[in-house]
Amino acid sequence: MGTVKAVAIISGADNDVRGAVHFIQRTTACGEGTQVEGRISGLSPGLHAFHIHALGDTTNGCISTGPHFNPLKKDHGSPTDEERHAGDLGNIVVGSDGVAVISIIDKQIPLSGVHSILGRAVVVHADPDDLGRGGHELSKTTGNAGARVGCGIIGLQSSV
Ligand code: CU
Ligand code: ZN
Repeated sequence: MGTVKAVAIISGADNDVRGAVHFIQRTTACGEGTQVEGRISGLSPGLHAFHIHALGDTTNGCISTGPHFNPLKKDHGSPTDEERHAGDLGNIVVGSDGVAVISIIDKQIPLSGVHSILGRAVVVHADPDDLGRGGHELSKTTGNAGARVGCGIIGLQSSV
């Protein structure tokens, strides 16, 4: 059935967060999955929450990207949970050099169809995602992940 490709160029407003995240939707006999490959620099070492947010709007910076992409109206969770937002991709790991190398495969972020993430946004946060388990009042909506330090709009790329 072929592939669909997309890219999000990540930047932050008052920091050095920069990067690119590539998406490749693979359709096989076993179903659909989206491969996510990227590199983001300028982050503090440790875990940082990594999400798809609902809106491809950066008018007022990353805050304009709205809430987590959640077409099934579920609670926030970890990527491996049944109860999760489609946009919940968990945490990325940043090394002492400030760089995160991302390699994820997920089944809830297609690049086509009614739940497509095209035209939405990738957001990386200042803090770790507690994956819905932190007991904080924000755990079930945002994972208590703190400020949005970088984001980028997911756009279609050449499928060649
Ligand atoms: Cu987020
Ligand atoms: Zn979420």
